[in-house]
Amino acid sequence: MGNFSAPIAAAMKRYSADEVLPFHTPGHKQGRGAHELLHELLTAEGLRQEVSLMEELDDLHAPHSCIMEAQALAARLWHADECLFMVNGTTSAVQAMLFGTLKAGDLVMIPRNAHRSVIAGLILSGATPIFLPVDFDDEFNLPLNVSVETIARAIKKFPQARAVLLVSPNYYGVAAELQKISKLVHAAGMILLIDEAHGAHLTFCDELPPSAMEAGADLAAQSTHKILGSLTQTSMLMLRKDFIDVERVKRAASLLQTTSPNQLLLASLDIARLQMQIDGQKKICAAVELSKRLRAEIKNIFGLKVFEGINLDPTKVTVNVQGLGLTGQEAEEILRRELRVQCELSDVTNLLFLVTFADDEETISKLLDALRRLPRRTPKKILPPLLPKGITVAKLSPRETFYLPAEVVALNEAVGRVCAEEVTFYPPGIPLLMPGEEISAQVVEMIGHSQGRVIGMGDSTLATIKVVA
Ligand SMILES: Cc1ncc(COP(=O)(O)O)c(C=O)c1O
Repeated sequence: MGNFSAPIAAAMKRYSADEVLPFHTPGHKQGRGAHELLHELLTAEGLRQEVSLMEELDDLHAPHSCIMEAQALAARLWHADECLFMVNGTTSAVQAMLFGTLKAGDLVMIPRNAHRSVIAGLILSGATPIFLPVDFDDEFNLPLNVSVETIARAIKKFPQARAVLLVSPNYYGVAAELQKISKLVHAAGMILLIDEAHGAHLTFCDELPPSAMEAGADLAAQSTHKILGSLTQTSMLMLRKDFIDVERVKRAASLLQTTSPNQLLLASLDIARLQMQIDGQKKICAAVELSKRLRAEIKNIFGLKVFEGINLDPTKVTVNVQGLGLTGQEAEEILRRELRVQCELSDVTNLLFLVTFADDEETISKLLDALRRLPRRTPKKILPPLLPKGITVAKLSPRETFYLPAEVVALNEAVGRVCAEEVTFYPPGIPLLMPGEEISAQVVEMIGHSQGRVIGMGDSTLATIKVVA
């Protein structure tokens, strides 16, 4: 695959080698004026390269040189027709997918496990969501994905919908059957948008579920920073041209991004691509092998179970700690404070560990050591998280809801009203209610029984809820 270069980093080095006297932003002027703490954190060279908006560093909003080249190299590597670099996270990539393809009045299918970034995407586009239930694993208490059958049923019920958005793989690594789903969705004249925040590495190892682009999706938003080697906040939006207006998606992505993109962030995306281009296959397949070893060893530890499933990315290692009498949150706290290991997340019953290409035998052995040292406690009763079932359509679009006056009512008097806020419990982090949804008696009961931290709800005591006035 030719060209083993990083055009953005190369342009930055050329600029700094010129030793031009900076009378431009940023105000610290390549580190000269920066506080010593910032020097400590970023180093002199890091600050020297922290420049932006020079002609030779290209323009993210009208790329014509190094950014254009870097995006083209990434598109090739990830099997896309085009790729857009995103410096406002996958949040803005998800928003660009919706804003760039939908308009007011369009219906879009959204899974219950959608990330909250879809809410702004829906407000910006004006589209109305149809909510799709996700399958659930009762033994591990965790959300799986949306099944092919559910998509088929939803298409039959709402043939006029314009798009289907899915999260694949989800946080726990469970992918949807995208090859079958993309055929169904396209046959129905709809487009397929994938939040692939947790799947930037899929294309590099055959043992992983197929990537969204390879499975036939039209757009895929990837958090390069979550799994690969770019800096936090950097993502890529992959585009396939067949069924979408590429120029419109580009305009949407541009409108959603800062006009002062940090050059170090852009370079890190380019370098992460270079790293994967050089030996992505070797690195990602090695991570898969390591994760398999970790899984096999965890099975031999008393009280622990490892989640296995179909369409699973094995590098997301979900460990159920119920057998030790611990909740996932208690186990996380012990690992962090006493054993100096930090997991990716914990929920009521599980811990999630990410194995990436940065791991090796040593880090895996240390993790196993820590897991063996987790204490045993007296088991307690754990209520499984509750999830809304059924395919439902929002009463109002999130945009209409956003601009309508709202009022606060007692939760138990809210049945039949239209919700004006987001109600999400962590775990499992799946919105029970999105703005614009009618509040059912079932959901009120679920909120009453929910445990964990609530996000989006103004009243954290859960006694009241904001509804459309
Ligand atoms: C499924 C999913 N989509 C989108 C995002 C947003 O990604 P970012 O944090 O890069 O904005 C996340 C973040 O955790 C996520 O889990």
